[in-house]
Amino acid sequence: MHDASAPLPIVVLISGSGSNLQAIIDAAARKELSVEIRAVISNNPSAFGLERARRAGIPALALDHKAFPDRDVFDTALQTMIDRFEPALVVLAGFMRILGPGFVTHYLGRMLNIHPSLLPAFAGLDTHNRALEAGMREHGASVHFVTNELDGGPVIVQARVPILPDDNVKTLAQRVLVQEHHIYPVVIHWFAEGRLQLDQEHNQVVLDGTPLTSPVDYTDADNNPQTTYPDPQ
Ligand code: GAR
Repeated sequence: MHDASAPLPIVVLISGSGSNLQAIIDAAARKELSVEIRAVISNNPSAFGLERARRAGIPALALDHKAFPDRDVFDTALQTMIDRFEPALVVLAGFMRILGPGFVTHYLGRMLNIHPSLLPAFAGLDTHNRALEAGMREHGASVHFVTNELDGGPVIVQARVPILPDDNVKTLAQRVLVQEHHIYPVVIHWFAEGRLQLDQEHNQVVLDGTPLTSPVDYTDADNNPQTTYPDPQ
């Protein structure tokens, strides 16, 4: 069990821009979040998030899934790489590979994911396009514990955004990302403080000793655009 007075050792997995990673790095720098990011690992060697990690002085490693014959071999190599850093929590932040049951079971209760929809709506890919196509009035993001059901683990927090009449995938994704950057550091902070657990028997989130009957709504009503973290040109 992690000593809540020490920074929580975490490893962050990414595949792309790493704007959620940046939000975590910045929240930690502002002391809103007591974590020690021991490593950032990407399956995509050209992910910009690796550069964000390097700039923050965090070990940045690539493990290209294309170099592995199948998912199991990749998962095993990834697990070995992660466990060298002995994290108390694995944070999936835009990690776009499906992880197999052995890997997920190994980190059960200590692995979080952020997903760009109001789960259980729009699990899987292409969430913004699908929300627009479905004529939804509202969309958002969810942070959940990772279980063996794809994007189906118990949801901890959600944040909502309206879908506006002239929205396209880009404008909607941007509005959702602002909320992602708001909620992910908060959930990691709760975990670091020892306030958050996965009750594996009941597949339920426990926050402050109480099972959640529905996700906590943590929408940032100001929708503060300063936290968009675009890739530098
Ligand atoms: C985020 O919108 C995240 O929710 C999504 O990828 C984006 C990564 O952005 N994740 C998934 O779709 C997972 N299935 P980022 O690299 O800028 O943090």
